[in-house]
Amino acid sequence: MNKTWESRLAWLKALKTPVPAELNNPLEVADFEAKTYLNFEKTGRSVCFKTYPAMKESYAIETAGDGYIISGGQPGVLYGVYALMRALEAGEKLPSGVQKPYYPLRMIDCWDNMDGSVERGYAGRSIWFEENRFDYDPARIRQLGRMLASVGINVLCINNVNVHQPAQHLLDNLLPQVEQIAALLRPFGVRLMLSIDFSLPLQNGVETADPEDPAVADWWKKRAREVWGAIPDLAGFLVKADSEHRPGPNAYGRTHAQGANMLARAIAPFGGVLVWRAFVYNCMQDWRDTNTDRPRAAYDLYQPLDGAFDENVILQVKYGPYDFQVREPVSPLLLGMEKTRLAVEFQLAQEYTGHQIDLFAMPPLWRDIFDQMGKERVRAIAAVSNLGRDGNWTGHPFAALNLFAYGIFAWKPDASPQQVIRAWVRNTYNLSEQDEEQLIDLLLASRGVYEKYTAPLGLCWMVRPEGHYGPSPYGYEFQAWGTYNRADRNAVGVDRTERGTGYVAQYPPKWKKLYENPHTCPDELLLFFHRLPYDFVMKDGRTLIQRIYDDHFEGVVAAETMAETLKALPLPEEDRREALERMDLQVQNAREWRDVINTFFRRFSGVDDVHGRKIYD
Ligand code: GCU
Repeated sequence: MNKTWESRLAWLKALKTPVPAELNNPLEVADFEAKTYLNFEKTGRSVCFKTYPAMKESYAIETAGDGYIISGGQPGVLYGVYALMRALEAGEKLPSGVQKPYYPLRMIDCWDNMDGSVERGYAGRSIWFEENRFDYDPARIRQLGRMLASVGINVLCINNVNVHQPAQHLLDNLLPQVEQIAALLRPFGVRLMLSIDFSLPLQNGVETADPEDPAVADWWKKRAREVWGAIPDLAGFLVKADSEHRPGPNAYGRTHAQGANMLARAIAPFGGVLVWRAFVYNCMQDWRDTNTDRPRAAYDLYQPLDGAFDENVILQVKYGPYDFQVREPVSPLLLGMEKTRLAVEFQLAQEYTGHQIDLFAMPPLWRDIFDQMGKERVRAIAAVSNLGRDGNWTGHPFAALNLFAYGIFAWKPDASPQQVIRAWVRNTYNLSEQDEEQLIDLLLASRGVYEKYTAPLGLCWMVRPEGHYGPSPYGYEFQAWGTYNRADRNAVGVDRTERGTGYVAQYPPKWKKLYENPHTCPDELLLFFHRLPYDFVMKDGRTLIQRIYDDHFEGVVAAETMAETLKALPLPEEDRREALERMDLQVQNAREWRDVINTFFRRFSGVDDVHGRKIYD
């Protein structure tokens, strides 16, 4: 890959000087960043620090004369310096009062394999691994630490939740190398986490991986001692169990609480957290079976276990009940676990949202989810990484916005998408006010545009199964993944009301009432909850089929308009070239989606577009 990453920090354009290798704690880095930034800016302003260890990650910024005082703990002061820079660059008011992160654990999960591939990665190969060994540039990893700290992210899991060989050895003979990475990131307040394979004892001479077998628990205790002996500040383990063919406690007739607690107890003495993913469903479903409904699966499995998990277990729940789709209702599990610590999981990697080719700024999606989410028990946040070895880190230069914004939302889930996008644009580019507004509007609208030309009204899964890019309304229809649209000549969708699969009953009464009636259900989720005839009359008087056609025609026009806007923006040369190349592909993709989806539905419904626009036969 190219070497341009050094000069392309993705944002914080003002940070030109790499952080020297000899700085080894957040306070030293804070001091360095403050000095070089203010020198670079030639502002003549000074920064002084007051450290209060008890403030830990918190900080406060005050102005004093023509300088600033930043008080905080470690790494709080460092977060304070970056917050100051972000605000100065964005022309925003300085945050007032003590700033404390809303989510204590703010995680990025890399889905990197040791062969160098990245599962669902769209920004080049792994930044950590190649040819089944570690292969990274320490300077680049320091730069990564800096990027993460600059938006307050504090935990990084370096290996895929699907633990393929030889990643098992991250817990034994590769430990010293894991510690080397931990040491590179420590000055930035970033702690490592490791994905583990539940069946590891079995691969190491124990006869079983049964969590209730004392030999298994002992094996994990011993392993935990060794792991934390090598990396004392390791944040914890991340586990994908009984999910998409990964091993788990079910094989031994044990519950997920038994499985998770056994591991949690092994790591509790070292302060480790056990992050247990709730992405569990039947991935071997017979499509003929209409009683099983995949969105129900996680709640049905975990809700009865509420209260059974140890305090250092965090159940990590994807934001919607399916799988990182463009539009889903919030997962009912996030609303229904009063006695369990939860993490909400987002996906920065644009698996179902355009592969970092099509524009998809995520803040509006997250805004919807945060607005629906019960916040009391959700005390951690995770996101699948969108990073790779590409020069600009994220494939599409604008995809960096999603990482930036994720960090900001993890501190302030009530942030406004527009403000966060503005902050990113101003920290990344030097544009005139008018150009800036154009770019902000384009990014803000991008999710809505993508949504219009892809699967309609919350229906989901009309994407090509191979790779998840481009349209294929039949692609998932007769498969084992539990993802069906069940379109026929009369109707489309799955009835998830109590007359149907009953999924809607997993929501608290207020939500259930809203969703179960197609006349009150928000339009954008209509086909998530309902099976409806094509002549169903929508709130605005259009028929369902006409709304589907309209969205697809409008989505393409909007993509074409975005392309025009983008061409006129004076971005730095490399970003402009990369963004325009991808925009061409996006427009082609949008046209393909429009024609395939509209044709699919016209063939079934036999209804023409009332405006006489072209739909193929
Ligand atoms: C999706 C994705 C997989 C991934 C899985 C997960 O299904 O396609 O590649 O492993 O999510 O979140 O574990």
